Amino acid sequence: MTPASSAAKRVVVLLSGAGSNLQALLERSLGGQVVRVVSDQLGAGALDLARARNVEAVAVDRREFADRQAWEKALREVVTEAAPDVVVLAGFMRILSGAFVSRWPTLNVHPSLLPAFPGAHAVADALRHGVKVTGATVHFVVEQVDAGPIVAQESVAVRSNDTIETLHARIKAVEHRLLPDSVTLFCHDRLAIDGRRVRILP
Ligand code: GAR
Repeated sequence: MTPASSAAKRVVVLLSGAGSNLQALLERSLGGQVVRVVSDQLGAGALDLARARNVEAVAVDRREFADRQAWEKALREVVTEAAPDVVVLAGFMRILSGAFVSRWPTLNVHPSLLPAFPGAHAVADALRHGVKVTGATVHFVVEQVDAGPIVAQESVAVRSNDTIETLHARIKAVEHRLLPDSVTLFCHDRLAIDGRRVRILP
């Protein structure tokens, strides 16, 4: 094994949706390897996307568990088995407990300029509020939703004729750069958390 490969970070991706951010991650070398993809939905197309690239893909469907604790315990087992150095939430639409998110460094991508418009409807909320600029954020995950230290942000202008779909498409185009860039920095040990600030090391 070369020194570089022995140091390669193990990345586990959690998602709920279409998986365009997963695709962006799989297209980049990252300085690490996506070793497992876990969806909270059976039959998510993103699982096929992973398998097509020979990445293990597993569903831990919330509907198959009596309560949130039982579901999160099963999810934790599936993630633990993959021995991640970092967990990446790439469109994962469920809230994880503080115990879960403090177990591994966890990055999340969110379709707004946090702290504006946290939560599950960030694009619709930004349009409804009438902001002229929104964007994408990658941040470390803490127990409070969408509140962790920010790694990267980039703005996206809102157009007067935007719908949720057109605006979200332009935000996703930004996310597809910002998220792999941030994971790459993590995999090269270049992110240092200093209180609320994330410093990017040379
Ligand atoms: C992305 O826009 C991501 O920022 C958002 O879900 C989308 C997933 O798209 N996440 C959240 O809203 C989390 N609060 P994808 O499945 O095509 O990657």
